[in-house]
Amino acid sequence: MKKDKAQRIAILNGSPRPRGNTAVVLGFLTQELERGKTILSKHDLYRLRYRGCAHCDLCKAREDEPGCALKDDLQKTLADIARSDVVLVASPVYCWSVSGCLSAALDRFYCLFKESGKSLMQGKRIGAVFTAGGDAFDGMDLCVAMMKKLSGFAGAEYVGTLAAAGCGTPEQTAKRADLKRAARPLARALVG
Ligand SMILES: Cc1cc2nc3c(=O)[nH]c(=O)nc-3n(C[C@H](O)[C@H](O)[C@H](O)COP(=O)(O)O)c2cc1C
Repeated sequence: MKKDKAQRIAILNGSPRPRGNTAVVLGFLTQELERGKTILSKHDLYRLRYRGCAHCDLCKAREDEPGCALKDDLQKTLADIARSDVVLVASPVYCWSVSGCLSAALDRFYCLFKESGKSLMQGKRIGAVFTAGGDAFDGMDLCVAMMKKLSGFAGAEYVGTLAAAGCGTPEQTAKRADLKRAARPLARALVG
């Protein structure tokens, strides 16, 4: 954890279960992140009220701020993303994709990409926590590929994934030493 300045980390959790597998695995990572000079802000997406992007393009008139015209609970999350050094998304794999609430939030990232080509995500580090009942190729692979594409488009660096395939109950997941071990190097890479 080399950076002098405290690293701001916006965490978007797209699991509906506050004590589910995603929360458990995200906990392994946040525990490691908290060891460094970090400021963590957590956005529990399922508890927020918002819609997906309306494609009204009103955000394109604002160069230096998200400027999304949908005045709902996601405004604070979008503003937080714009001022963070790191964006961490977490989700269960649902139907070979991320959860609906994370998907709708990712659509709203549209306001961070301006007509001029400017990206309010430029240079940020991005990481993901995915949990799944199936194996790594039962949808988690597609979630990782999507996040890599999004990061590339945003001019951000996709740093890595804490991938929890084959999850059973949260109690079983809490005992997964492999995930606890994998959390430390990812945390180090995320804070640069
Ligand atoms: C609606 C739904 C769809 C799911 N789809 C998939 C899937 O496509 N692939 C997979 O591996 N697991 C799938 N699962 C299993 C979840 O990804 C897994 O149980 C996850 O760890 C739940 O996370 P949570 O405890 O944070 O809610 C699905 C579960 C639900 C409820």
